[in-house]
Amino acid sequence: MGTPILEMSQISKSFNGIKVLDKVHFELEKGEVHALMGGNGAGKSTLMKILTGVYELDEGQIKIAGSDVQIHNTTDAESHGVSMIFQEFSLIPTLTVAENIFLGREPKKAFGLIDDKKSVARTKELLDELNVDIKPDDIVADLGVGYWQMTEIAKALSKETKILIMDEPTSSLTKRETEVLFAFIDRLKNKGISIIYISHRMDEIFQICDRITIMGDGRHIITAKTSELDMDSVIQHIAGKNMEKFEWKDRKRVSNGSVVLQVKNLKTNNRVNGVDFELHQGEVLGIAGLMGSGRTETMRALFGIDPLTGGDIYISGKKATIRSPKDAINNGLALIPEDRRVQGLVLEHQVMDNILLPSLSKITKVLVNDKKGKQISEEWVKKLNIKTDSIYKTSRLLSGGNQQKIVFAKWLANSPDIIMLDEPTIGIDIRAKSEIIDMVRDLADDGKSILLVSSEMPELLAVSDRILVFHDGKVVKQFLREEISSEEDLQHAIQGF
Ligand SMILES: Nc1ncnc2c1ncn2[C@@H]1O[C@H](COP(=O)(O)OP(=O)(O)OP(=O)(O)O)[C@@H](O)[C@H]1O
Ligand SMILES: [Mg+2]
Repeated sequence: MGTPILEMSQISKSFNGIKVLDKVHFELEKGEVHALMGGNGAGKSTLMKILTGVYELDEGQIKIAGSDVQIHNTTDAESHGVSMIFQEFSLIPTLTVAENIFLGREPKKAFGLIDDKKSVARTKELLDELNVDIKPDDIVADLGVGYWQMTEIAKALSKETKILIMDEPTSSLTKRETEVLFAFIDRLKNKGISIIYISHRMDEIFQICDRITIMGDGRHIITAKTSELDMDSVIQHIAGKNMEKFEWKDRKRVSNGSVVLQVKNLKTNNRVNGVDFELHQGEVLGIAGLMGSGRTETMRALFGIDPLTGGDIYISGKKATIRSPKDAINNGLALIPEDRRVQGLVLEHQVMDNILLPSLSKITKVLVNDKKGKQISEEWVKKLNIKTDSIYKTSRLLSGGNQQKIVFAKWLANSPDIIMLDEPTIGIDIRAKSEIIDMVRDLADDGKSILLVSSEMPELLAVSDRILVFHDGKVVKQFLREEISSEEDLQHAIQGF
């Protein structure tokens, strides 16, 4: 190995006197895919924001290709060939692929006019090089999320990127799109581009990364070749203990509980084509299916986000009219959405205000600033192990995974009867994942009824009493948990259409 392309040493950073990075070391070889792992709030994103000039370091040195560099802002980072693909995409949906790629850096003709031809031609070159089948003048909004990702990557490459950072890039991708991304990462590697890959998904890390660095509580814990580690040791380093595998645990299930929710021939203009099912009290009903099969959209319809074009919803035997989330809440429903950071949270609000938001009607506004609200918030911060120095902290300043947990707290604090969870463990670290699985069990044991949409087979199999398989906006199969003997079984059922 030659000189590393990147060396970050003794990096420290505090916010308001609280140290979030403590003498962290990180090194990247040329053409390497290096995983950066660690629990929620460990400091991964902060370290990368220092490298990309979003934050300035308090102490430490950064070397790129052997020379000391100073990174004070994002322009500095770009000039050193560092690019980051944020989880929140930075694209403008109404513009074309080419316009997005060259936004703010448009090639100019004489007299300063924008040279569209040039940016289209250059975009075509980039897309061809990456072997992506989209066109420079496709409108971004019309493309699938997977292609947004590719557009972001093409944008990074148009800037002569040497070091590419990906922060949880697969959380909005299907399995197939993920495979395309991985093939893509291989090609980038072969071009000598070095990649820092942040993810909580263990299988991905072992599939594509050459080395792994694990951080914990703002410190460097270990760096090793992937081949020298196994999943158990990685989990041990991240969680500080051995975690039991997700397994089905027999619950004191409320058997044959009464039907709390019945859905008959539900239809919307958004991928729901006649959904039928029943949910019982105390039941965990798993919902499996490929992306685009109408799972998320069914939740949206039940929660009054997408208007129904047909069908009926019955709550505890009575026909319910749900035309807005407010109607849904009044009917005892809660939805913890898939893209929680966008849909579930007011980022500029304090942690406490976010937790109390949907409960406002229950404890009345007057009480929110007072003891009761404070007590409820503190309880939930503790229960879900939300990493924040106070309940008054602005939610935007929490790490990604901890923001997700606030959304959980927010809905659960409202004690709904029917809880719809859409991909509840995306972006959540391994330790909190099993806490959430346990929490789902506890809620059901308490008589709550749960709809659980998940693409993670082990998760579905660990808690569901029954599993529905969705395809093309309908329920196409139903299983009792005991009828499924393995992950492969379920995978087959999902893919068999
Ligand atoms: N601007 C800020 N002001 C105050 N605290 C901050 C700020 N940015 C980050 N933090 C804190 O720094 C710690 C590390 O956060 P960071 O986002 O780096 O974690 P992470 O490892 O990326 O976690 P996750 O896996 O949840 O995304 C957290 O406790 C977070 O609240
Ligand atoms: Mg993060």
